[in-house]
Amino acid sequence: MSSTPPDIRQPGVSRRGFLKGSSAVASSLGMAVGAAKAQEAEASADARTIEMTVNGKTRHVSVEPRTTLVEALRDNLGLTGTKIGCNQGQCGACTILLDGARVNSCLTLTVTAEGAEIVTVEGLADPTGDLHPMQTAFAENDAFQCGYCTPGQILSAIACIEEGHASDAAEIREYMSGNLCRCGAYPNIVAAIEQVRDQQEG
Ligand code: FES
Ligand code: FES
Repeated sequence: MSSTPPDIRQPGVSRRGFLKGSSAVASSLGMAVGAAKAQEAEASADARTIEMTVNGKTRHVSVEPRTTLVEALRDNLGLTGTKIGCNQGQCGACTILLDGARVNSCLTLTVTAEGAEIVTVEGLADPTGDLHPMQTAFAENDAFQCGYCTPGQILSAIACIEEGHASDAAEIREYMSGNLCRCGAYPNIVAAIEQVRDQQEG
């Protein structure tokens, strides 16, 4: 017994209609690519060269007005020790020192850092490779687990002591509250900061 195969074409979609639709999609994709290229050309026309001192060396970066400092450090200079967590000023993973003050580099536009002195985690060890005391204290106190938040925690911890906000554990917790740790290493981070504070005082 012969049977007619079922018609699996979508009702109302002819081959001509399908091809016409495809070319419309291709044409709008082409327009999107063209618009992206035009935007790129416009952006690079706006690029500015910014001079900064990063970890003791003069560096120049060519950035757009919208480029954040964490992007310039990571993408232009390859300093990927500075991490991006939330990218909106809430986690502290991107903390660096700018003219001695801790800042969230995800909220700082690179163009505002012209002439600034910047320190990232890569600049903490001395030229012989000896770790900064805060790095040593973090290691000795197991103050990290996955380590993702650690560069930001260490820069913030150094500033916390410099600012005079490490008199006791409660004050340290308060002034380190902008640096989140999803692994929950907080008690060990406080212990590391107390250790460095005591070394400096002793
Ligand atoms: S990445 Fe900058 S504060 Fe979270
Ligand atoms: S050590 Fe994992 S997020 Fe802090």
